[in-house]
Amino acid sequence: MEDPVNTAEFWEACYETDMDNWDIGGPTPTFERLSKVLPKGNVCVLGCGRGYDVVTFAKAGFEVTAVDFARSAVLATRENARKAEVDVTVLREDIFDLPEQLHGKFDYILEYTCFCAINPTRRFEYDRVIWQLLKPDGKLLGLFFPLDKDVTEGGPPWGVDISELHRLFSLHWDLESEEMPKESIEPRVDREVLMIWKKK
Ligand SMILES: C[S@@+](CC[C@H](N)C(=O)[O-])C[C@H]1O[C@@H](n2cnc3c(N)ncnc32)[C@H](O)[C@@H]1O
Repeated sequence: MEDPVNTAEFWEACYETDMDNWDIGGPTPTFERLSKVLPKGNVCVLGCGRGYDVVTFAKAGFEVTAVDFARSAVLATRENARKAEVDVTVLREDIFDLPEQLHGKFDYILEYTCFCAINPTRRFEYDRVIWQLLKPDGKLLGLFFPLDKDVTEGGPPWGVDISELHRLFSLHWDLESEEMPKESIEPRVDREVLMIWKKK
C-alpha cells in the first residue's frame, strides 16, 4: 500500500485541519538574504506551501515557478502573490511527476521543508528530480531541517543529517557553501543548515 504521505490528500488534510505547524507564517529570513545577493534567474520552489518564499524571490526580481500538490497550498500561494502584486507561476503538481518541459529550465531550486516531508525512501528520486529541473550550471539552495531528529524516528518531518546530505548529493553536485544560518527563526536556531550545491 502506498504511504499516505506521498499523496496530495494527506497534505490537503493537514491544511484543512490546521495541522500545519511547519508554517512560519511569513518569509524565511535566510531566503530573504539570499534573494538580495544572488544573481537573478529562474527559481523553482518545490513543495512551496503557502508561498512566502515564492513571493520573496519574485519581489526581488527572480522569475518564480512554485510547485505543490495540495490545493490549499496552491490557492494560498496564488493569493499571497496577488496581494504582493507579483507574477508567479503556481503549478498544482506532484514534484515526482513534473512535465518534461520543465527539465533544464531553472537556475535555482529552492528547498525548504519539502525534503523532510517526503518519505526518506524517495531521497534518491528527489535528487534526480532537482538535477533534471536545473540548467547545466544550476544550483540547489537547500535549507535543510530538522537536524535534531533521527530519520528512524519517523515523520513527517523526517530528520536530516549533514553527513547523509553529503553522501546523497556529492555524487552529482559540488558543494559551494555550507553554513548554520544566523537568521534562523528562534525555534529553528541550530536545527537547520543552509547548503548551496552546484550541479556537476
Ligand atoms: C512541510 S510542508 C512545507 C511547505 C513550505 N515549504 C514551507 O516551508 O512552509 C511540505 C509541503 O510539500 C508539499 N508536498 C509534499 N510532497 C509533495 C509532492 N510529492 N509533490 C508536491 N508537493 C508536495 C505539501 O503539500 C506541503 O505543502
